[in-house]
Amino acid sequence: YMHTEIPEGLKRLPGPKPLPIIGNVLEVHNNPHLSLTAMSERYGSVFQIQIGMRPVVVLSGSETVRKALIKQGEDFAGRPDLYSFKFINDGKSLAFSTDKAGVWRARRKLAMSALRSFATLEGSTPEYSCALEEHVCKEGEYLVKQLTSVMDVSGSFDPFRHIVVSVANVICGMCFGRRYSHDDQELLSLVNLSDEFGQVVGSGNPADFIPILRYLPNRTMKRFMDINDRFNAFVQKIVSEHYESYDKDNIRDITDSLIDHCEDRKLDENANIQVSDEKIVGIVNDLFGAGFDTISTALSWAVVYLVAYPEIQERLHQELTEKVGLNRTPRLSDKTNLPLLEAFILEIFRHSSFLPFTIPHCTIKDTSLNGYFHSQGHLCLHQPVAGQPPGAVEGAFFIQPYRFLSADGTELNKLEGEKVLVFGMGKRRCIGEAIGRNEVYLFLAILLQRLCFQEKPGHPLDMTPEYGLTMKHKRCQLKASLRPWGQEE
Ligand code: HEM
Repeated sequence: YMHTEIPEGLKRLPGPKPLPIIGNVLEVHNNPHLSLTAMSERYGSVFQIQIGMRPVVVLSGSETVRKALIKQGEDFAGRPDLYSFKFINDGKSLAFSTDKAGVWRARRKLAMSALRSFATLEGSTPEYSCALEEHVCKEGEYLVKQLTSVMDVSGSFDPFRHIVVSVANVICGMCFGRRYSHDDQELLSLVNLSDEFGQVVGSGNPADFIPILRYLPNRTMKRFMDINDRFNAFVQKIVSEHYESYDKDNIRDITDSLIDHCEDRKLDENANIQVSDEKIVGIVNDLFGAGFDTISTALSWAVVYLVAYPEIQERLHQELTEKVGLNRTPRLSDKTNLPLLEAFILEIFRHSSFLPFTIPHCTIKDTSLNGYFHSQGHLCLHQPVAGQPPGAVEGAFFIQPYRFLSADGTELNKLEGEKVLVFGMGKRRCIGEAIGRNEVYLFLAILLQRLCFQEKPGHPLDMTPEYGLTMKHKRCQLKASLRPWGQEE
């Protein structure tokens, strides 16, 4: 790729000199989010490295990222044809496949409309404002029970292990109309694989960049294929059951609504974009995968931060006591009255930067950015701009939720909050943003109202993130005790 002619008037991308075959792998090492940030200080906000045989463009700084993703959004909206991506959802993923713009856009629209119908629109009972609220309120209460019963039996718990089941149940409810018990081995073994999934898909998997590695025995890659097979089999089984019991007059969940769309479209001869039934119903696979990993990672970080900052935990509980009270479950409508909780969530997003890079993008045609030439198919990585990794700025080791509040501390500072762009931006931005924000908020409100989290003596927290698509904290053991409940203030 390296010898493309540069059109007149454009510059060749700067960057470190690559070694044969391995390129700059040694300089990127195990923590690309740190090493690439350091390189951007040397080479600027647009530079090129070579991972293995493949050139990779790294974008940083909000101005440059904005220019690429908003102003030149069309040019940078593709996904690269990475080897590992071919195994995700059988190569038919909405988020990871190289679908052409027309097909990808049609699928994205369908996914958004399915989410609207089964998450944000109606609830099954008038008691709840929307289906998402109903699922989270119920799962939140189960989670409190589950954690207290594990405390009774074992004296401590692994937060991620239990949170991931609750979060998976919310998305399972919307996608498949069902939930699983906290001891269900099938679901447990599946959702607990997400660490390993993310480690391969996190930017920098060697087999994606050094083609020869694909043909050598490779344990990680083998395991990755295995995880994807199991994930696909799990979803496929549920989809088949839906096909068998499908009734067009009773659309139960997102899977039904996607099947319904295929049926409808068969009647519509004029549909101008051809998308196979498999690619339509397969959308549910993406929604399920994207819907549990990100949110459970965010929530698990939040709980660990509460333990690390007990003073902030107390203030958050205080805010809930004052604004919601201790005799009813918090709701989505309470959110605007809980500015400190909202600020805390933004601060967790900013400080943990648990999404070190978005899913990689690629250029869909030759283009230029900041005067540099980018050829078609260029793989682009960028940080979702919340961007400084912990330690990059002075005082960054301490969280400071108050930075997101107005000077008198009574309101959220929206302008400051908008700088935290963990959901990406432009054409490929996350379609689950509203769900993600509301779900993290509501689970956290319920947990903070009912429980007090503490360190397990002798088990100090290790908050070093482990690099991956979503970076997770190390698995740990925590304690929790029930707060007083049902008292009038
Ligand atoms: C894509 C973040 C929750 C569905 C993305 C991207 C980011 C992101 C950074 C990539 C943007 C890019 O490539 O430029 C998050 C965070 C979440 C979250 C931080 C929660 C805290 C969800 C949920 C769903 C979802 C709940 C669905 C139910 C998707 C899909 C894409 C995506 C389908 C791919 C879009 C495309 O390729 O066009 N998300 N997400 N996400 N997200 Fe999320």
